[in-house]
Amino acid sequence: MDDRLMGRPETTDARREAQLVFDQLAPEYDRSDVEFFGPIGARLVAHAEVTPGDAVLDVGCGRGAVLFPAAHAVGEGGKVTGIDLSRAMVESVLAEARDKGLQQVNAMVMEGAEPAFPPESFDVITGGMSVHMLADIPRVFQAYHRLLRPGGRLALSAPVTVDDPAPEVFGLRSIARLCAAHNAGSGIYPYAEAFGGARQALPDLRAAGFTEATAREEPAFITADSPESFLLWTWTHGMRRLWERVSDRERAAAEADIKAEARARSKRTDRIVLPTPVMYVVASRPDA
Ligand SMILES: C[S@@+](CC[C@H](N)C(=O)[O-])C[C@H]1O[C@@H](n2cnc3c(N)ncnc32)[C@H](O)[C@@H]1O
Repeated sequence: MDDRLMGRPETTDARREAQLVFDQLAPEYDRSDVEFFGPIGARLVAHAEVTPGDAVLDVGCGRGAVLFPAAHAVGEGGKVTGIDLSRAMVESVLAEARDKGLQQVNAMVMEGAEPAFPPESFDVITGGMSVHMLADIPRVFQAYHRLLRPGGRLALSAPVTVDDPAPEVFGLRSIARLCAAHNAGSGIYPYAEAFGGARQALPDLRAAGFTEATAREEPAFITADSPESFLLWTWTHGMRRLWERVSDRERAAAEADIKAEARARSKRTDRIVLPTPVMYVVASRPDA
């Protein structure tokens, strides 16, 4: 394992820990040969029906997997504001937007649970693989409803674990087993369903005032050049927090398991292609 990706955050406070981890991850996050966050971000922007001129808030923007496709969709007449609790993520997004000459992009360090903007500031709120990490989802939905203009849209994506026929995380049972053993209380991955699943999310959205709410699963494909690069990728995003709970002794066996299962379950033999379900939650604030 790459030594730069090792080491534990020092505090036990969950939010501070997440901030430290994502600050640490920012340089490597979504920058390997492994494809996952990018296609999901583009799909989320399509679900959100972002149109030219829209004002978009992207919660937990990370390195911009949602924010940059949204910036193209709104065009020069629109505006995309990314917020993230990680300063390193925000600085990376600002630097990339500058390099690409995207003047419609802004990003700032801000808590995603209750973003500090005036009511009715946005046409669209997106959250790619981020909002499921927030506590008290019903309150979060209420906060987002307030921030949307009448007719505005909310679109969120989240990883899904499936219970039938057996739990999987990132398309693998070996990672689900690690989660089952080490995830308790960490808030890293929703071992149960993200947002409580459709059964919970839809009533919560309606209670917050949203209409036309849907929560659907679609397959995404994680692609990697090799089992080794897939394994390295698992250290470059939130799963790093899980790895940090695994003892050195257990780690070697877990790594071998993951590599073997990735190869065995890949849809192709010349590279790793793992199907994994992603949940998309889409809802609208009714027109006044
Ligand atoms: C898995 S990444 C997703 C990033 C990006 N949206 C994507 O699709 O690649 C989750 C992001 O959410 C951010 N995040 C986690 N908790 C947050 C919070 N409470 N407020 C704001 N951002 C948060 C992390 O710093 C990280 O950048």
